[in-house]
This record gives sequence, structure tokens and C-alpha cells, in this order.
Amino acid sequence: MSNLNLVHNDSQYPGSHEDYYTQLSERIANHTARIAVIGQGYVGLPLAAEFCHAGFRVTGIDIDKERVRTLNRGVSLTPDVSDTTLLALRTAGYYEASWDFSVLKSSDVILICVPTPLRKSKDPDISYVLATVEQVVKHLCPGQLIILESTTYPGTTEELLLPMFEARAYVAGEDVFVAFSPERIDPGNKQFTVKDIPKITGGVTPACTRLAALFYRQIVSKVVEVSSPRVAELAKLYENVFRSVNIALANEFSLMCRQLGVSSREVIDAAASKPFGFMPFYPGPGIGGHCIPIDPAYLAWKMKFSNYQARFIPLAEEINQSMPGHVVDLVSEALNARKRCLNGANVLAIGVAYKRGVGDIRESPALQIMDSLMKLGVNISYSDPHVAKIVLGGKDFSSVEVDATVIKATDCVLILTDHQEFDYQAMLVHASLIVDTRGATRALTGGNAQIISL
Ligand SMILES: NC(=O)c1ccc[n+]([C@@H]2O[C@H](COP(=O)([O-])OP(=O)(O)OC[C@H]3O[C@@H](n4cnc5c(N)ncnc54)[C@H](O)[C@@H]3O)[C@@H](O)[C@H]2O)c1
Repeated sequence: MSNLNLVHNDSQYPGSHEDYYTQLSERIANHTARIAVIGQGYVGLPLAAEFCHAGFRVTGIDIDKERVRTLNRGVSLTPDVSDTTLLALRTAGYYEASWDFSVLKSSDVILICVPTPLRKSKDPDISYVLATVEQVVKHLCPGQLIILESTTYPGTTEELLLPMFEARAYVAGEDVFVAFSPERIDPGNKQFTVKDIPKITGGVTPACTRLAALFYRQIVSKVVEVSSPRVAELAKLYENVFRSVNIALANEFSLMCRQLGVSSREVIDAAASKPFGFMPFYPGPGIGGHCIPIDPAYLAWKMKFSNYQARFIPLAEEINQSMPGHVVDLVSEALNARKRCLNGANVLAIGVAYKRGVGDIRESPALQIMDSLMKLGVNISYSDPHVAKIVLGGKDFSSVEVDATVIKATDCVLILTDHQEFDYQAMLVHASLIVDTRGATRALTGGNAQIISL
């Protein structure tokens, strides 16, 4: 990995704008370009691994030193890159993690994949992106391509990043190339991984777009070039607003179906038989993760500067955020019907991750539901093959193994995340009451359990 230590210098990049463009294009096309991916989480690590697979040498930069040490031992921290794969890439010299930003000096392409959460006030917290770009600017060299991948509000690339480069007298499209390309992965999804998902690229200038597109074509078969970073930023937000609104619609629909004594899932499946013009979304206990509960607020926040009050976004948020409370009500009503109260009841939560197949508990509605039940006096326990421990209300909880004895000792089995590792048939056989928020037991028969479904 000796070439990771090279530093840009005049002999490497001899000067004119065309030279910068041509030389970087060549280095990308012949896979000798050195890549730095800043942020080695759910997004940055799989992306880094994909470029390594294509034959590029990649440094994954992260401020979390423990994460860097772990990655350098070949231990992956995301479901999309196995330990075996990471170790192989390490051993072959394609991948290295580091907390030393000076490696940026020797990088041709810099990708930014750091968190973009919300502040308590629900305004965008862009501080991670800012801190990262400050490091990039500090080590900026002529001829580099910098691409922001973090989900963010429209205008971030041109209003926030670009002026920071221009303040150092760099001209985008001439001696530095700047673009936005949203990451669209779905962690844990084996069918669509980084290489299967088209990349949208919007550069600050046409040359920036072309270079970014050429870069991503090395790992994906389809690149969608758009006219500006703003279009690319908005495309990502629109995708996630679309999901949030449609999930909210399914959630509200399930509340209406409950009043009418009908299974919302049966209705949605029947509607989904239409071969055009319909896409099924299903109700659930609420929304979680680092995207759907957060990204729409980035767009709504930005629109306030144009005196425009978004309407679908807050309505969807309101409905989706009411779902954890609705699940608590379902458990309470089901126990009440058995002359049991919540106080003192044993409830086993099945799954705490925000979705199937991952160990990510960020914004997970399961935590909110368990916390509410605990405050109402429930003896809560949980099982999740992907989440060994959680802290709830200042108390430590460890995942329990689910077997017949554990199920029989519980007053209510509460299915919150439908991981495939669980034996739902055994739950049907051994439980007396199941509240199923994911439709995990829908296709099953047998057993004596009473099932309450969303
Ligand atoms: N998780 C997803 O499913 C997903 C999908 C598509 C897009 N995104 C977007 O991608 C971005 C990253 O999300 P993620 O899920 O990978 O987050 P993550 O928390 O899993 O990873 C982010 C990493 O960045 C590191 N980091 C923070 N500040 C840093 C800094 N200044 N310099 C270097 N490293 C720093 C953190 O230590 C962490 O390891 C977000 O904008 C998110 O909205 C996430």
C-alpha cells in the first residue's frame, strides 16, 4: 500500500485545467486513482469495499479511533461487508482505515459519508459535514474530485461546500471538481447492494458531473447524470419523503381498517394485485433508522427560507410518530380483555432493531414502545439476534434466547421487528397472546395463541 503515502505535487499534476481533468480521468479509468472515504459507517464502508473490489486502493477515514482499529483488524461493523471480505481486502492491501486526515493530500477522489442527523429543535445538524469539509479544505490539492454522499438539504453542496473551496482560491470545474451523489443503499438488503443501485450525480459544473459519473461507472452499471448538485440532493430527499408519506398512509389505513374490523394487510395485498399504478406499503410500529424519520425534515426546513410550509411532510411525521403509542394501546387493550393490566405483566419484545436483518437501533420505534411499557409497570424483556444489549430508561437489558419456556412465561409476545432468525411458528404454539406489528405470523396456522395484528 505504499502508494497511499504519495503526496500531490506539481510533477504529478502539471498545471492547466485540461491537464487536471485529463489526468484524473485517466487515473480513474485505469484504477490507479487513490480514494479516501470519510465516515466508515453503514454507508462509507460498503462503498469503500466496492471500490476496493474494482481494484482501487482506498483509505477509510473515521474520527472514531476504536472503529478504525476494529476495521483494520478485519472486523466489519455493517451487515453489507462480511469480516471475511474485509480481511481479504486488508490482506491484499486494497483497504486501510485511518483517523489521520493528512492522507487526503495523497487522494485523488474524496467521498464524504458522515452523519446528517437532526438537532433537538428538528433542524438539520450539518456540523459533521462542516467538520469534514474543514479537513478536506485543509488538505486540498489541485486536481482532486470531492463528492458529498451524505443526505442533506438542497443547496448544501453549492452554498456550503463550494464557498469553502473558493475561499482557498480554487475554481470548481478547473482545478478542483465538486459534486453531490446521494447514497441510496438499504443496509442488510442482499438483493440490491451498492453495485446494483444506480448512482445519481450532479456536479457544480458539467466537467464535475462528467468526472463524478466516470468515477461511479467503475463500480455501478448505471449512472444518472443530473444538471446540478441541487437536483441530486432533492432526488434523494424526494425518495425518502415518498417512503415516509406512503408508510404514513399505510399506517393511517390500518387504523381505519381496525375500526372497520378488517385486516389492512389483506386489503393492501389485494390492491397490490393491480399490475400497474400501485406500490404496496405496509403498516408498522413506527419508522426508524438514519433516513426516513430524518431526511424529510431537511427539505421542510429548507422550504421555510422560501416562506413555504410543507404539508405532507409534517402530516406523515405526525401519523408515523403516533404508531408507537398505538402499539402500546393494542397491548394494553389485549391484556385488559384478559382481565390483566399492564402493571406487572410480562411482555417479551421480539426485535428491537428498526428493521429486519440489521442491528441498527437508531430512532427505532421498538425502544420507544418498550420504554413506554416499562414506565407503565410492565416487566419488559427483549430478544434480538442482531442487538446484544440496550439501555432503556438508564437500565441495562440483554437479549434473551427465545424458547418454549420463555414464551410460556410471558403474558404477551410483542413482535416489533420481523427478523428471519425467529421461529414464529413456535411462538404460535407456545404463546397465549401475540401482538404482531409486522405481519410476521400472517401466513402461519396452528397453535392456540390469540393474535392481534396491525
Ligand atoms: N444508514 C443508511 O441506511 C443510509 C442510507 C443512505 C444514505 N445515508 C446517509 O449517509 C450518511 C451517513 O450515514 P451512516 O448510516 O453511514 O452513518 P453512520 O453513523 O453509520 O456512519 C458515519 C460514520 O462517520 C463517522 N464520522 C462522524 N464525523 C466524522 C468526521 N468529522 N470525520 C470522519 N468521520 C466522521 C462516524 O464515526 C461514523 O463511523 C448520512 O447522511 C445518512 O443520512 C444513510
